Amino acid sequence: MIAIACDHAGPALKEEIKALLTEMGYTYKDFGTDTAASVDYPVYGSRAAYAVASGECEKGIVICGTGIGISISANKVKGVRCALCSEPLSASLTRQHNDANVLAIGARVTGPELAKEIVRVFLTTEFEGGRHQRRVDLITALENGEVL
Ligand code: RB5
Repeated sequence: MIAIACDHAGPALKEEIKALLTEMGYTYKDFGTDTAASVDYPVYGSRAAYAVASGECEKGIVICGTGIGISISANKVKGVRCALCSEPLSASLTRQHNDANVLAIGARVTGPELAKEIVRVFLTTEFEGGRHQRRVDLITALENGEVL
């Protein structure tokens, strides 16, 4: 199950990504918003992020205009590693190296075909572990208030 959410900049792209998820055989839980009426991205980004952090959803996809505000918001939720990606190579590397569990996309800066390729790569690339696990563990330590 994939958590998906957006602010008012993202409903059209969110629908395209939902169709792609279905095509790829994923189920999803849509946390809104569904219209162009102005909303606040921390509300929607955090709802998807909490679904990932709790284990209800295996990964998340969050969308706002730039992808910046909603990625910052998602990253405030403990256990979430949200990566804002505007091309597929970063989507691949953030899975391999950071074990990112939430993907952020900017609907006003990334076209729909590119966005869908980013989603495909993000969802099909595995974490490499090894030396990268140590660094991910340090991110968790930071979350827990440790000073490195
Ligand atoms: C909303 O107008 C816009 O600020 C938001 O979608 C996003 O780009 C924030 O980072």
